[in-house]
Amino acid sequence: MISRKSIDEVLERARIEEVVGDFVNLKRRGSNLIGLCPFHNEKTPSFSVSPTKNIYKCFGCGKAGGAAQFVMEHERYDFPESIRYLANKYGVQLEETRQDAESIEAEKERETIYKVLEFAWQFFKNQLFKTEEGQLSGLTYFQERAFRTKTIENFGLGYASQTADGLTSTALKAGFTKEILQRAGLMTQNDGDFFRHRVIFPIFNISGKVIAFAGRQLQNNKRSPKYINSPETEIYQKRKVLYGLFHAKKAIRDENNCFLVEGYTDVISLHQAGIENVVASSGTSLTPDQIRLIRRYASQITVLYDSDVAGIKAAMRGLDLILEENMDVRIVLLPESEDPDSFVKKSGMAGFNEYILDNSKDFILFKTNLLLKEAGNDPVRKSALIKELVESLARIPEAIKRATFTQECARLMKIEEHILVRETNKAVAEFLQQKRRGIPSDVADYETRTQKEIFNKEDRPEDPHNIRFPEITDQYQERDVIRILLSYGDKNIPDSTINPLGRYMIASLEDIIDQFQHPVYKKIIEAYQAMLAKDQLPGPEYFTNHHDKEIQSLTIELMTFPYEYASWEEHDIPMQIQLHPDDNFKKDAHNAILRLKLKIVMDHIEQNQIRLTELQTEGNDEEMIIHIRMHYELLQVREQITSQFKNVVLKV
Ligand code: CTP
Ligand code: MN
Repeated sequence: MISRKSIDEVLERARIEEVVGDFVNLKRRGSNLIGLCPFHNEKTPSFSVSPTKNIYKCFGCGKAGGAAQFVMEHERYDFPESIRYLANKYGVQLEETRQDAESIEAEKERETIYKVLEFAWQFFKNQLFKTEEGQLSGLTYFQERAFRTKTIENFGLGYASQTADGLTSTALKAGFTKEILQRAGLMTQNDGDFFRHRVIFPIFNISGKVIAFAGRQLQNNKRSPKYINSPETEIYQKRKVLYGLFHAKKAIRDENNCFLVEGYTDVISLHQAGIENVVASSGTSLTPDQIRLIRRYASQITVLYDSDVAGIKAAMRGLDLILEENMDVRIVLLPESEDPDSFVKKSGMAGFNEYILDNSKDFILFKTNLLLKEAGNDPVRKSALIKELVESLARIPEAIKRATFTQECARLMKIEEHILVRETNKAVAEFLQQKRRGIPSDVADYETRTQKEIFNKEDRPEDPHNIRFPEITDQYQERDVIRILLSYGDKNIPDSTINPLGRYMIASLEDIIDQFQHPVYKKIIEAYQAMLAKDQLPGPEYFTNHHDKEIQSLTIELMTFPYEYASWEEHDIPMQIQLHPDDNFKKDAHNAILRLKLKIVMDHIEQNQIRLTELQTEGNDEEMIIHIRMHYELLQVREQITSQFKNVVLKV
């Protein structure tokens, strides 16, 4: 774990305009910078960056946050990844919090496995380029497949010789143990090399480290498998890896589309032809983990199939999973007896792209047509077809999209739309029920999403910045307190007995923290209190980058809206944090807290009066006396508070 101290250091150092500036062309306007929003399509800039507040906010799509959020959102990193990215950018040495001895040991061993894989990789590359056998067998093989040297280097291809223990003995000499070689999947039970007499394709993880290898035989020979892959190890789980993703991720994001192919060589050939947004599932059917990997970068997957219909039908089952993930799935059938590798070699990039454009079909419509062709005019088969189609339709989590497709399918199949709608709804309900009964499905959040639609609740996209806050309209006193706390809590106030302001505020609020009505304000204030208890002082960045999305987006909201929205957008008035001289912060804070306390007392008075009326109707004199006494006590408290306001105008 990265220590809190390091995280804070990174967040303090990170300048939002610099972090965003690496990805977005920003122009100065007033004291802010503006540019085209990288998160939605726009022609006029509504993406604003405030260097003073160290935050960004898009007035078009609503995305907002601090430096860490920007990196998370833009690079699809999780929080620690984004902190590491920023630490790297700003040269901050991260301090990791102490782990227990066991996990340190495990960490070290994992590191050694990475190291031995790296060692093996260098070994294989060396064999390919520097040994006679490698050049004659390996390089020749790649050249016959028309892989250019640059491509071979880019994908780190290598060669494993015929020798029984070439790698093993070299690695042992270099100080690696047998155990590590085995755990890395490089050595067989008999102490020999796992890969022999094969060309080698290293498999990279998403950050470019080698985690496994695939080896292909040099001549097609039915007696041994065409490809062998590293066995599953601690760091290589086949179902979580997509071949080529490391090389493709940037292009996938740029294109917002990912081509999915079957084989290693398909990826490499397409890449070489200039189509870089391509990954392979490596011969297995696509797993949910792999789909989610792609979803980090794009919302569309285009699957390239060769034209063997039987294979397609089997493979298509996996695609329902992609629908569940709310991604667009398109299908392209390649010409007879071509795979992407052979096809792109013939057609080149332009021809390939043209073919895709002409032939890519939406998955559901593709499936409909395919099934229709199969069923012909046979009514029994046609009803089976409807059933199968409905299975797919039911997995589309977004109601509108589902409706559109249902309509289109009904048209294609020449059946009444309402029949298909009814069947689909039934399937959706069934699907949900299965989930509730705990029948495993790999899509965790499907149910929540779909339920919302079924019960006609508001459908909120997953976008963290669209989190709805409870409708508590009259909590502006709480809001004000939190706003001041977040904006100025780290300021030191001259002549104050308690500093900084945040500490003073928390001390004054202590008795009413559990009376906060708004759950997120309450969370913020509790988080603040907890930090202070640990002797740490959370600055605004702590909350604008907070891992709790509710806290984070509410903070941004408070720091921008409605206070500055208008000025950011229309009048272009420079934003200011400091509206007052320093000593006024304390007065503002003090008054805001008093107003909140007053509000709470007034609420209690009102509640008490309601209760009194009830008791009166019931004729419960005993209880009434207690509540009358309470009423006077409350009036006293109110008096105490109002007397502190002095020259403040009351408005409750
Ligand atoms: N595969 C595998 N083991 C095998 C055969 C295939 O792991 N014995 C995987 C590989 O990832 C391979 C993919 O399935 O890339 C597709 O297999 P196939 O179409 O047979 O191979 P190609 O990718 O076309 O390989 P090549 O062009 O080298 O023949
Ligand atoms: Mn092939």
